[in-house]
Amino acid sequence: MAKDVIIALDFPGRERTMDFLSKFGDERPYVKIGMELFYAAGPDIVREISARGHRIFLDLKLCDIPNTVRGAMRSLSALGVDIINLHAFGSSAMMRAALEGLIASDGSRRTKLIAVTVLTSTDEKTLHDELLIGHPLADTVMSYAENARAAGLDGVVCSPLEAGEVHSRCGSGFLTVTPGVRFAGGEHGDQVRVTTPAMARTLGSDYIVVGRPITGAADPVAAWRLCRSEFLGGEM
Ligand code: C5P
Repeated sequence: MAKDVIIALDFPGRERTMDFLSKFGDERPYVKIGMELFYAAGPDIVREISARGHRIFLDLKLCDIPNTVRGAMRSLSALGVDIINLHAFGSSAMMRAALEGLIASDGSRRTKLIAVTVLTSTDEKTLHDELLIGHPLADTVMSYAENARAAGLDGVVCSPLEAGEVHSRCGSGFLTVTPGVRFAGGEHGDQVRVTTPAMARTLGSDYIVVGRPITGAADPVAAWRLCRSEFLGGEM
């Protein structure tokens, strides 16, 4: 069920990011910090944006041996972000270790953990001929989502077009966080399989991740409002 729009802060550094956020005045959109900004500005940018009152999805897509990912998640858990992610490809053991790293000493867990299944930049041919995975791409995505569910994760990153199938296999409470969203008639950029915010709502996405249609708009605040009203409908 549609919960919110997450703006992808794909900026090269702190200054451009803070300039962008200052346009929103007292409003505090939900934002995504990915590798580009995190590697340029470090954990301080997460603390600074969090202190302003934004909810944050930290999109670092971890993938390593379970022990290393457990430790990395322990370090990242101190940032108190709302959602963090990893690659389901790293195995169920890695996903379980990641969850352990996010659990505080009192047994509570503040940060939700979601998995990337198969990157949307990977096509069927690459999956079969280069990565030597013989199963159809759609089955691989669903199997990875089920592994994430079984490991105790809170959801997956997927296409809005896959959200319904993920919910029917993994439960309606299992989060679907979906990029690849464009306004009707808008520029697609490098996204191929796109849906509009209204379609993503109909397809059952929980969160849509929207970058350039908002960050590149002449009036980003108006674009964000339009996106929210289309996606959330009457639930705003
Ligand atoms: O600008 P745009 O709306 O295409 O941005 C989408 C965001 O979602 C980017 O930050 C991109 O890295 C991210 N993303 C994606 N497809 C995935 C996973 C993440 O587009 N499968």
